[in-house]
Amino acid sequence: MAMDDKRGYRSGLVDLRAGEVSREIFVNEHIYAEEQERIFARAWLHVGHESQIPKPGDYFVSSMGEESVILCRDRAGKIHVFLNSCRHRGMKVCRYDQGTTAVFTCPYHGWSYGTDGRLVGVPYFREAYHSRLDKEKWGLVEVAQMHNYKGSIWATWDPAAPGFTEYLGDFTRYLDLQLDGWDGREGQAEVLGGIQKWLVPCNWKFPAENFSGDTYHNISHRSVDLAGIGPSGAGRRDMGERDVSRKLHVCIPDRGHQTIHYVLPAGKSPPPAYLNAPIVAEYVRHCEEERRRLRGEEARLVGAPGEIFPNTALLSRQPRTMAVWHPRSPHQTECWRWFFVDRDAPTEVKHFLRDYYIRYSGPAGMTEQDDMENWNYAHAASRGTIARRYPYNYDQGSGTAVTNYEYQGLRVPGEVIDLTETQSSEQPMRNFYRRWAEFMEADDWSRLATWRGGERKAAE
Ligand code: FES
Ligand code: FE
Repeated sequence: MAMDDKRGYRSGLVDLRAGEVSREIFVNEHIYAEEQERIFARAWLHVGHESQIPKPGDYFVSSMGEESVILCRDRAGKIHVFLNSCRHRGMKVCRYDQGTTAVFTCPYHGWSYGTDGRLVGVPYFREAYHSRLDKEKWGLVEVAQMHNYKGSIWATWDPAAPGFTEYLGDFTRYLDLQLDGWDGREGQAEVLGGIQKWLVPCNWKFPAENFSGDTYHNISHRSVDLAGIGPSGAGRRDMGERDVSRKLHVCIPDRGHQTIHYVLPAGKSPPPAYLNAPIVAEYVRHCEEERRRLRGEEARLVGAPGEIFPNTALLSRQPRTMAVWHPRSPHQTECWRWFFVDRDAPTEVKHFLRDYYIRYSGPAGMTEQDDMENWNYAHAASRGTIARRYPYNYDQGSGTAVTNYEYQGLRVPGEVIDLTETQSSEQPMRNFYRRWAEFMEADDWSRLATWRGGERKAAE
């Protein structure tokens, strides 16, 4: 199906009033190509973390949408994000995953770029170019905007995009739980070890919507629950919060971000975790105490999975990771997973958590294998001529979200669903696809609806 007939995404493909989303948006080549322009070339995307490039000259090769980018620290210590493509004929100037360098030398004809992106070396500059090539003009392409948020590096290609914190809106509170220390100190997270990278034969929106808060797929992880690898030690995957908290879906409308979070009753602490690993249990207990001291009421908010539009997932507690779902084709996604730990945590705690995280998440982890099976088979089964005629159902829990939710004095802005009452709702996915459709239809940022003061307002 060609999209050049300007068929509306909201009216034709994402019909949230009917609770239906067309399978076309997952499998159609034209829609996929348009996503690269309208979403991945405009939205803020997660690139990496500053702890991956601690010294001048350090670099980490990442991805923004389909395109390779270099996250690096120049000689003066400034962080940059560059397109990993030579300005001469496009060759990748950096073919390693990460390292330290003084210059990036293109393997094709040998142009060299400094870690600040400037073109510093051109073979036969005098003889072949007669010294007339304007080196200032032919440096590496740099992102339009970059933001270092508590150590995590985000970037956008769009100079007109709002600033990163404006883009996040009220979601900063949940990203903070990811990047601050478990003890509540600001920006204490560091990346633990390397990045896990693997390919899944499905569209990138399958993992994105799953991490938006698909609490409904618990049956998929039944075997993991039975094996009892959760820190609560109760044959479950959580840390025991659900026994004592309100469990909430929190959606940030007109931003497209959403998460599951727990809110503890006033004066209540989270239950003890990792009891079978005393040193970790003690560390967590100490952190919770400190967090209550530093953050007061805010410490009652306990994190779980979330998704920052379009393709970054969070798990801020157990395990503590971020993932990016890089689109590679309509039918293939490259998943990258970063694992985090508190920078000052004892070495034994870091070692334990590293092993625990790997056992839990990632391509060989016990839970993610279940998820990948679902996405893989759902995507393949949706590609058929007949299958594509039938939309998916996203109607669960329609009309049950409340705004200005409050629980015993703790205010939770956004559209909130109290899952303690309703068990499950597809409001987070509806929030995600509403934003997806808005991005796909809007020609510029002024056409995207904005959220101010707790009330939804469509932009002019
Ligand atoms: Fe890089 Fe020619 S492609 S120097
Ligand atoms: Fe899952």
